[in-house]
Amino acid sequence: MQRTPLIAANWKMNGSAALVEEMTSALAGVATEQIQVLICPPATLLCRFTAPINFALGGQTLSHEVSGAFTGELSAALLIEAGASYVIVGHSERRSLNAESDQLIAAKLMRAVVSGLTPVLCVGETLQQRQQEKTQQVIARQLDAVYASQPELLAKSVIAYEPVWAIGTGESATPEQAQQTHAFIRQHLAQYDAKAAEKVKLLYGGSVNADNCAALFKQADIDGALVGGASLKAAEFAQICSSA
Ligand code: G3P
Repeated sequence: MQRTPLIAANWKMNGSAALVEEMTSALAGVATEQIQVLICPPATLLCRFTAPINFALGGQTLSHEVSGAFTGELSAALLIEAGASYVIVGHSERRSLNAESDQLIAAKLMRAVVSGLTPVLCVGETLQQRQQEKTQQVIARQLDAVYASQPELLAKSVIAYEPVWAIGTGESATPEQAQQTHAFIRQHLAQYDAKAAEKVKLLYGGSVNADNCAALFKQADIDGALVGGASLKAAEFAQICSSA
């Protein structure tokens, strides 16, 4: 089946009002009829996208709570009001640096969906887990934590496979390694909803750049990318989008 590619940028704690402008004009030259593009800047920059844009905006995390006395947190409603229609959930940096558990991530994903945001759920193994041949076991646990008790959320999700060892290291997974894990993810998800598993977009993330993206995009189960470092260079990110 043909899935529309999605190329997403995760600026993490980077970017500026100047990059907002640069990215807006670089992407204006990208034909977005056949692909979807998503920019996830720091939340403070969401409202800076004021010019007409041919891409979607997303948050990098959200609270599982609706509103209230949660200093420093961002609700789904606030993200939506700022222009977001997507949100990244369970990025490995949030899992490790902010101690986000599988259970909390499941609650956040549910909050995103019921609020009308499309969640981009990140899963992936550490180098040690890969060396111990636990990649599939770890990813199955991360997926099950979200979808075993709420399988209906799968049809509303995007999933990003981001091997932790490939994030920010310059060492991308090979297209074969990535494809193998993507195929496993799709097959594993089929137990929850076979139709949704076939349709769900599976993005690859981890040192994606303009040089290695085309080979990744050729793989049958890779439906796009979640790009970190290379998404901070407007021209390179536009090039990655055009390769999809
Ligand atoms: O979410 C994107 C990501 O973690 C990958 O980052 O810098 O390796 O492309 P990077």
